[in-house]
Amino acid sequence: MQNFIYHNPTKLVFGRGTIGQLRDLIPAGQRILMTYGGGSIRKNGVYDQVKRALRGRRVLEFGGVEPNPRYETLMKAVSVCRRERVDFLLAVGGGSVLDGTKFIAAAALYRPGDPWDILAKHAPVSQALPLGCVLTLPATGSESNMFAVISRESTREKLAFSSPCVFPLFSILDPTTNFSLPRRQVQNGIADAFVHVMEQYLTYPADAPLQDRQAEALVKTLIEEGPKVLRRPRHFAARANLVWCATQALNGLIGSGVPQDWTTHMIGHELTAFYGLDHAQTLVVVLPAVWKHQQKAKARKLVQYAERVWGVKRGNKADLAIRKTEAFFRSLGLKTRLSEYGIGAEQFPEIAARFDQRGMKLGERQRIGSRQVREILELCR
Ligand code: NZQ
Ligand code: ZN
Repeated sequence: MQNFIYHNPTKLVFGRGTIGQLRDLIPAGQRILMTYGGGSIRKNGVYDQVKRALRGRRVLEFGGVEPNPRYETLMKAVSVCRRERVDFLLAVGGGSVLDGTKFIAAAALYRPGDPWDILAKHAPVSQALPLGCVLTLPATGSESNMFAVISRESTREKLAFSSPCVFPLFSILDPTTNFSLPRRQVQNGIADAFVHVMEQYLTYPADAPLQDRQAEALVKTLIEEGPKVLRRPRHFAARANLVWCATQALNGLIGSGVPQDWTTHMIGHELTAFYGLDHAQTLVVVLPAVWKHQQKAKARKLVQYAERVWGVKRGNKADLAIRKTEAFFRSLGLKTRLSEYGIGAEQFPEIAARFDQRGMKLGERQRIGSRQVREILELCR
């Protein structure tokens, strides 16, 4: 096992009817900016619950944070924070609202220059406004991690940053808020959490049997509970299990002390930036292609995964692991090939070149460069 520091300071408040606890979670006297997305929270009653919980408190609002939150929009919220002297941010929505709010929190206090540098130049974030969250979509794990992914419309870029300063202070996870999710977002959420586990598990053996079994437990639970939610959207127990899986899939625990991949995510972000696909739609296309391309390097973990998660006993286990995973994604109703979206190879060279321009190598052994990215993209067709 590798050396690691595990520190996750986010308080998780889980369960039915927990939004009312907001009034105790946000310190009194704070000037709050509540951020949200395109309006789902107004339709499903979450907005009203938040407002009720914060009655009598000073609450400003900033709505309209897009899926794949845009830098251009977020900078408007940064101006509000500075002008109105906001001292607490409350994100109400899915991963995009939360990621956007993490960026607002960091950018509002960023003084050296253009906050875009936080994303483009990895400028260190040494302070941020405190933030909390009411999560309405289980998928990203953003509710309990220090990552955020932000898009810039003008340059077609989608870039990530991380800082311990943007861990949410608390996250309220009420699975009943998920009842109103469109089917597509449920499919996406299951797939995103699944791939988060795989990015931290499907590498090479690292003498970390506990992390391996925790990862296997997470994907097995997703395989069991995910379809239940799709069949019965108001199945509280299944919703609750999905929420808890998605949070644990990317809260730092299963990735502690083990090698991590993230090739699928890095290529996936480019596919969103270039073609506008949803985050999870890109992942289920790219993951099987990465595994095919890296089948030799990942052979031992592919076999372990095939045996323990899918119960494969004979045959080409690595190959079956890939096929069963793709079949699982398809069973959720997701497409696993770019051609199904009408996407051809025209822009593959430009996408692959971006990794060279950034001087980036991908994968658990940092051996995937732009040539390999292009080969992987070919396998996505
Ligand atoms: O904008 P509103 O109106 O709220 O609607 C949203 C949005 O249209 C809707 N929605 C959310 N909760 C709902 C609901 N509709 C009905 N009922 C509810 N309860 O769902 C749509 C998608 O929301 P979004 O927040 O974009 O989805 P998700 O949570 O999947 O977040 C995706 C973003 O997170 C990033 C992705 O790249 C993408 O930008 N990620 C963040 C990570 C992190 N911070 O650790 C890691 C991930 O790998 C990922 O990259
Ligand atoms: Zn993801």
